[in-house]
Amino acid sequence: MNPRRRTFLLGLGALAPAAAWERESAAIYSQRRRALAEAVGGGLIVVLGYDEYEGRSGYSSFRQESHFYYLTGHNEPGAALAIAPESGRRPYREILFVPEADAHASKWLGPRLGIDDAGELGVDEVLSRSAMEPQARMLLKERKRLYGLLPGGPGRDRNAAERLLARLQEVCRRKDVRDIRSRLARLRAVKSTGEIATIQKAVDASIEAHLAAWKVIRPGVTEQQVAGAMVGAALTAGCERMAYPPIVGSGLNSTILHYDRNDATLAAGGVVLMDVGGEYSRYAADITRTVPVSGVFSDRRRKIYDLVLGAQKQAVAAVKPGARLYAHGPSGLTGIVERWFERHGEPGIGSRFTHGLGHHVGLDVHDPRPPEDELQRGMVLTIEPGLYLPDEGFGVRIEDMVVVTDDGCRTMTGRLPKEAEAIEAIMAA
Ligand code: GLY
Ligand code: MN
Ligand code: MN
Repeated sequence: MNPRRRTFLLGLGALAPAAAWERESAAIYSQRRRALAEAVGGGLIVVLGYDEYEGRSGYSSFRQESHFYYLTGHNEPGAALAIAPESGRRPYREILFVPEADAHASKWLGPRLGIDDAGELGVDEVLSRSAMEPQARMLLKERKRLYGLLPGGPGRDRNAAERLLARLQEVCRRKDVRDIRSRLARLRAVKSTGEIATIQKAVDASIEAHLAAWKVIRPGVTEQQVAGAMVGAALTAGCERMAYPPIVGSGLNSTILHYDRNDATLAAGGVVLMDVGGEYSRYAADITRTVPVSGVFSDRRRKIYDLVLGAQKQAVAAVKPGARLYAHGPSGLTGIVERWFERHGEPGIGSRFTHGLGHHVGLDVHDPRPPEDELQRGMVLTIEPGLYLPDEGFGVRIEDMVVVTDDGCRTMTGRLPKEAEAIEAIMAA
């Protein structure tokens, strides 16, 4: 049974169908832990989930540490995982440590998986969180190396990593302590069938958000009202939260890459850039469209729009196993876009493309970059070229998500139009 169930209210007064938090089967999480153990080949791996404080900001509900969630599907604060790969005569072991039942916490935050219920997640052994240090110490006796999420990750990862080291300081003395991030990044980059299906749900709900925005956009509406329509549509369509703060930038604000103040008013004749995606059962969508505020692109904006769209289509068409996302050369998708701007745009326009072409997406909107650049079947990434012309008061970005197939890719966001005429037709309807 799924560990947590939530209910969405769909429609005014309608009794809601229960929408379950979608986890993969216990067997899939087990395979991931085994694959990590095999990649490491010895030592002891310890991965901490977030505690209550790390997992929430003042205004958001708990969000689990992504690597930990990837390995366990455990979505509550204060847990930890130890994996001891098979080595020599010592057999493989895996232990999930969860907090003891706490009546006070349950009263405030609702029921938690106790030690007994956590068994349904399928980790071989489940122990109390307080047993972690003694168990790790014991398991490390005959093992030289300790692997974990060491300091170096962004933001909150740093806290978790530092706590791990502090907690295991005594155990770590005289041990070789190594970071596990690049191995996890490599595993996480290739998505399972279940992950692709869940990401598609995040995408589908986020497409509803974009279509809802196009209905409300007109001169005089505020960016915040557009963002509100988008968040409402994404949550109504099944997302539990947004995957990042909505970016709704009109006029000059469309040239600010991560603009999220959303406090200006849409002016006639300009464009509005919406980079908005939701999270569905923890998996992210990341989609950008740029549309005309008055419903029709001006000539200059249309020219730049079509230039970006041409580049974007070229890059999407070149996505296949073996292609490289970040490379500038002939097999590089970034190189394809750079050459497109050189050949089809005015001199120097390529210098207005001021960010990376794309990134992996999954449990995080910016999933960790795997050590190798070559794309493989099952990877999910964004293709998002843009041109930013602050001197002319506008920017254009078009961002789709694709999943790499055997011989190319499938555009997961393909249902959301991106041809200028198609956008204009929908806005006129
Ligand atoms: N929404 C952030 C990005 O496109 O990377
Ligand atoms: Mn992106
Ligand atoms: Mn984006």
